[in-house]
Amino acid sequence: MEKTTQFLDLGKQPLANGFLSMQDIDTEYFYNLKYQYDPETSLVSMIDKPAPELMFNDSYPYHSSGSRTMNLHFNRTANSIKSNYNPKTILEIGTNDGAFIRHFNKENSLCVEPCSNFAANTSNDGYSTYNEFWSLELAQKIREEHGFIDVIYAANTMCHMHDLDSALEGIHTLLGPKSVFIFEDPSLLSMLQRCSYDQLYDEHPYIFSVTALDKILRKHHMIITNVESLPVHGGSNRIYAQTTHSPIAIHQSMGYHNHLFMERQLGVDNFETYELFSEAVKRSKGFLLGMLVAFNGNVISYGATSKSTTIFNYCGIGPETIKYIIDTTKDKQCLLSPGAHIPILSPEEGLSNLSDFDAIFLGAWNFIKEILQKERRLKNKKWITHVPFPRFL
Ligand code: TYD
Repeated sequence: MEKTTQFLDLGKQPLANGFLSMQDIDTEYFYNLKYQYDPETSLVSMIDKPAPELMFNDSYPYHSSGSRTMNLHFNRTANSIKSNYNPKTILEIGTNDGAFIRHFNKENSLCVEPCSNFAANTSNDGYSTYNEFWSLELAQKIREEHGFIDVIYAANTMCHMHDLDSALEGIHTLLGPKSVFIFEDPSLLSMLQRCSYDQLYDEHPYIFSVTALDKILRKHHMIITNVESLPVHGGSNRIYAQTTHSPIAIHQSMGYHNHLFMERQLGVDNFETYELFSEAVKRSKGFLLGMLVAFNGNVISYGATSKSTTIFNYCGIGPETIKYIIDTTKDKQCLLSPGAHIPILSPEEGLSNLSDFDAIFLGAWNFIKEILQKERRLKNKKWITHVPFPRFL
């Protein structure tokens, strides 16, 4: 049997959401960001994962409801779940600020959220909230208190789980014969196709293919019934799964079969694909640096994303190249970006004098449509993205 093999080294990295002030620079945490491929399970995973408590704590700054695009996405998702399943109980794992769960009645909903700043939000609004990391023990407690759950939903959370086996065992504990487990995470295939290596950072110990999920869910007595491609987070997959311990006949949709077929065609289960990806990442770095440096420091960045933490630290981009970053999230403003220490300003401040800069790097490239639509006044600036290769928009 072939062994799990490293294919990518993105170097010394800080916590992607570890925005910091000047006085915290000396104690900033760094680790080595490397990924491997396991030919047996087809899983792509991080080697040497930083402890979850370092990232998910009482000052986690990422708000799920921080963009129009994601609010719309959660609204549509909730409507579709209501009309297809009409759940009497719904459990969301990783509720964040409640962008999704708020579309459901408090009486029917359960929230799990390890970051206490967000858990307090939903709890204060009357939603039953477990301020804990997802675990098998928590699942057993919920089973004792509430029985099986009709719909379990998790958005951008399963790829955060360090112990995937135990997390999935916990989910299976709560699935009755008619229950459904719906989860969405960035797609490995989209990352390979777009060379969007910035999907890789501390909070993503895994980036999933349907191929790998198919195997690992089966191991935990669950079967994928449908897969949908979503445009959010730079290309995601939504997976629908149910328990195999059910007398109800299981139907696997064309969506499921098509995704598996497409992934096989495009080499998701072939180590060579990852070696080629790694080479493409190195080329992307060289081209992006060349483009940014040519502006002699007159570039700003749009969106203080986790993704841009990976880019800036891997490419060695600092405040000499990017003057400042603008971001609407209050908790990120007036701080420095992790590792690169680029100042973060509110859009009001950063865009008050348009002659301050000539070009804009699109850190939040996954919101390209929303951002370009609302920033018409910046249409004369040079917009730069690295996806799918470094280029001007
Ligand atoms: P996102 O791409 O979802 O994040 P991550 O890589 O961290 O998972 O984050 C988008 C960031 O961009 C978030 O901090 C909010 C910010 N943002 C703006 O400042 N203005 C905007 O118009 C949009 C859409 C996002």
